[in-house]
Amino acid sequence: MESSERREQQGSLAVFTVLILIIQVLGLTAVILVAVWMGSFRGGFAWQSDPAHEFNYHPVFMVTGMIFLYADAILTYRVFRNVKKTYLKAIHGIIQAVVLILSGVGLKAVFDSHNLNHPPIPNLYSLHSWLGIVTVILFGLQWMSGLISFVFPMLSMGARQMYMPHHIFWGLAILCLAGASALTGITEKALFTDFYSPFKYSGFATETYIINFLGLTIACLVALVVYVVTRPEYKRQPSPEEEHIQLMQ
Ligand code: HEM
Repeated sequence: MESSERREQQGSLAVFTVLILIIQVLGLTAVILVAVWMGSFRGGFAWQSDPAHEFNYHPVFMVTGMIFLYADAILTYRVFRNVKKTYLKAIHGIIQAVVLILSGVGLKAVFDSHNLNHPPIPNLYSLHSWLGIVTVILFGLQWMSGLISFVFPMLSMGARQMYMPHHIFWGLAILCLAGASALTGITEKALFTDFYSPFKYSGFATETYIINFLGLTIACLVALVVYVVTRPEYKRQPSPEEEHIQLMQ
């Protein structure tokens, strides 16, 4: 390899590392901000004995699962470029199984907070809830089709190769939908509280900063993940061994 080419590759790897670090900082910041918002400003957490505070688990679990961990699951192949593909598939799939579990708990919390309220609050009435439920269903379908296609392959190598670009597109599209769900949820929850209403506005409260920074952090994280995944120079190259196996199949 030419030395100028090697320098260029090292430079692009350095930018890549910085981008991944920024994504981690944004993800952790989002989780901390949403936990502080619900824990310190919205009265803390409870389970079914106190449905109003059970709700507070919903944003925390959804942001941790569908935003932070999902982003990291997507980045597995880009970050661990020298690890064997079999291990990468396992990490990618297991993190997303955790995302599904966290989302299940997050949804249970919000449905309980509606159903156990006196009087009960109707379910699935808002744009946020429609977007959110569609996102979770698409996420589940994508996870299942990934499992069928790549982990316990029931498809031929040709079919798998044809499906791969669609899997990548939908993975990113679902992350964008998760971002949109989180932003509509944050706005909706904020507008349920008096201090955020434009009609009762009386200057910036600390909670306003937390809410707005939380939304911005999520938007930046999603944009950066889409950027990293769509840059060809950050794509993992197959090892010689993997290339050999592909040729044999
Ligand atoms: C990817 C993330 C998210 C998804 C997939 C999601 C999904 C959902 C779903 C399906 C519901 C309907 C529950 C029902 O009708 O009983 C809901 C309700 C709700 N969510 Fe989220 N949510 C997400 C994140 C958030 C965040 C970050 C907040 C911020 C506080 C939030 C706030 C709310 C509120 C206030 C409700 C109750 C009102 C309504 O039904 O629209 N959500 N969410």
